[in-house]
Amino acid sequence: MSKKVNPYKDSKLTKKEQVEQMFDNISGNYDGLNRVISLGTDVKWRKKVVAAVEATNPKSILDIATGTGDLAIQMVNTSATRIVGLDLSEGMLNVGRKKIAKKNLDTRIEMVQGDSENLPFEANSFDAITVAFGVRNFENLEKGLAEIYRVLKPGGIFVVLETSVPTKFPYKQGYRLYSNLILPAVGKIFSKDKDAYSYLSESAANFPYGKTFNNILDKIGFIDVVDLPQTFGVSTIYTASK
Ligand SMILES: C[S@@+](CC[C@H](N)C(=O)[O-])C[C@H]1O[C@@H](n2cnc3c(N)ncnc32)[C@H](O)[C@@H]1O
Repeated sequence: MSKKVNPYKDSKLTKKEQVEQMFDNISGNYDGLNRVISLGTDVKWRKKVVAAVEATNPKSILDIATGTGDLAIQMVNTSATRIVGLDLSEGMLNVGRKKIAKKNLDTRIEMVQGDSENLPFEANSFDAITVAFGVRNFENLEKGLAEIYRVLKPGGIFVVLETSVPTKFPYKQGYRLYSNLILPAVGKIFSKDKDAYSYLSESAANFPYGKTFNNILDKIGFIDVVDLPQTFGVSTIYTASK
């Protein structure tokens, strides 16, 4: 069992309430921060997620923890006729809705407020489900994954993109240097919410990545679970089916 990491140490709110509050707070800075933290590579990783989904010819796609909608927006390049982005944070969704309106994609992407641990959909509703940098924020990881399993159609694809930690020399050491030197500078962007910045690094360091996450997916009932480390292992794409 990994250590439970909450955004605000002294808060009496549940992790879920704190996560919602934190993402509401940082929604205006989120897109810029994402590009800086990942040195722009998050764009490339998202493209790989889209390619994995597109290869299965889905008609319906649910992007959970969609945030400001970057992955949902890229899903318009697939054959899907129904694309739904779901997130806890109205602040993040509102930034996403503006981006979608600007691209005239309002009729193609639906952005809904909701909780991954209690999804507002019938069982077997979607051909493909994705989560990018979302699962490590779930209050109850297994409950969220079990809900995803419930609403995924049999034979459908589930793709997760999440941070991981490089294990091999010299990437392990380089990553440590990057986390200790560069990330603190990036933290200044969060001067209004310093806790958010430490939460993002701490939750990344504590997430059960790689084979440990594969085992959790297996336990929930997913099949054909594969992990594909990206960029020396700083993030991993997991694919699975039902
Ligand atoms: C780091 S952001 C990722 C946003 C987007 N997927 C991306 O790749 O940029 C994490 C998102 O997960 C959402 N989130 C966390 N827990 C959630 C839950 N239980 N249900 C739905 N969304 C959740 C947060 O509100 C936040 O917008």
